Amino acid sequence: MKPIELEEMYGAHIYHPLPIVLVRGKGVWVWDDQGKQYLDLLSAYSAVSHGHCHPRLVQALQTQSEKLCIPSRAFYNDQLGPFLKKVCDLAGLEMAIPMNSGSEAVETAIKSARLWGHRVKGVASPEIIVVEGNFHGRTTTVISFSSEPKYTNGFAPLTPGFKIIPYGDVNALEKAITPNTCAFLVEPIQGEAGVIIPPEGYLRKAAEICKQHNILLILDEVQSGLGRTGKMFAFQHEGIVPDGLILGKALGGGILPISAFVAKKEILSLFKPGMHGSTFGGNPLACAVAIEALTVLQEENLVENSRNLGDYMLHKVRSWNHPVLSDVRGKGLWLGLQVDPRKGNARKMCEALMKKGVLAKETHETVIRIAPPLVITKQELERAADTIEAVLNEMT
Ligand SMILES: Cc1ncc(COP(=O)(O)O)c(C=O)c1O
Repeated sequence: MKPIELEEMYGAHIYHPLPIVLVRGKGVWVWDDQGKQYLDLLSAYSAVSHGHCHPRLVQALQTQSEKLCIPSRAFYNDQLGPFLKKVCDLAGLEMAIPMNSGSEAVETAIKSARLWGHRVKGVASPEIIVVEGNFHGRTTTVISFSSEPKYTNGFAPLTPGFKIIPYGDVNALEKAITPNTCAFLVEPIQGEAGVIIPPEGYLRKAAEICKQHNILLILDEVQSGLGRTGKMFAFQHEGIVPDGLILGKALGGGILPISAFVAKKEILSLFKPGMHGSTFGGNPLACAVAIEALTVLQEENLVENSRNLGDYMLHKVRSWNHPVLSDVRGKGLWLGLQVDPRKGNARKMCEALMKKGVLAKETHETVIRIAPPLVITKQELERAADTIEAVLNEMT
């Protein structure tokens, strides 16, 4: 049987992949099993910001894999400490808990906020405010506060303790706060919702409100973090530092899964042995790759590249004034092309792009998300832009 048939037969159908079988990747390029080459504009939902198989990261993986991989946290290892320090220093925060997936880091943030609510704020039943259109992962508790029925239907009973308010609305935040509120959990830019950018000043004002009411501001930067928006962290656009920060995806350099909840000492020092853990979290193999991934972001100026080429691409796509697109949003190398449903279909457009050698993925049927590896060059981006324009023209 062929790979697609095997996957369809033995795998639960939780995704709707484009019908190609990828076998190799290098930088912004991937190849299928027929030898056809594609420009990757999805980067595994931002996990591959460093490009596929970055040589320095492959080297870090290889070197560490020959020394020590998974000793567990029953012992100290020589990579975890340096990784934690690096991620804390970068974020301007003090302590971190390493996990593996983004969802696990979100779960860790929720547990931390509740713990802080109980122990520091002294509330019996801590509540967390979240926003409409949020996406924080797929575990049972995390989907419990999703506003998307597709993510929750069939999975009840859901975890209580969350209140959903509109995104980008600081008045709604202020109104939703009760004596039980312990945290406000939000994405600085909503990725899965379709690259939704809140009004300027939203995070700054939210941070003020949180401070005033003694509640934690926790930012989920699993997708927006590590250069994607043209700053190392999206919160830096607003000149704030959150109380807690959730990182994942690109932290592993597109090589291995690793995530972290990074926060103030006041929060994470509440944890004592036995209260939380993860067999693979903090393993030296993933830590060694993550240290190198963070170093590469800095040394190869990937954040600047994201800012400069992101601006260039946003202006270019907007300049088309294309009738098929009802909106074009973006920050850094992260764009959402809103397709007018009367004039085009995002899935069909992604299929057409694929035939022309460009990979992108629709979100919510009406948005094409553009999130290339941050190592992309202007020439490669121009090629991507030309292909997108050609496909848009075919729609009309
Ligand atoms: C903002 C955000 N948080 C959390 C997650 C969940 O990460 P993971 O799929 O690694 O569990 C995602 C995944 O897309 C995300 O975009």
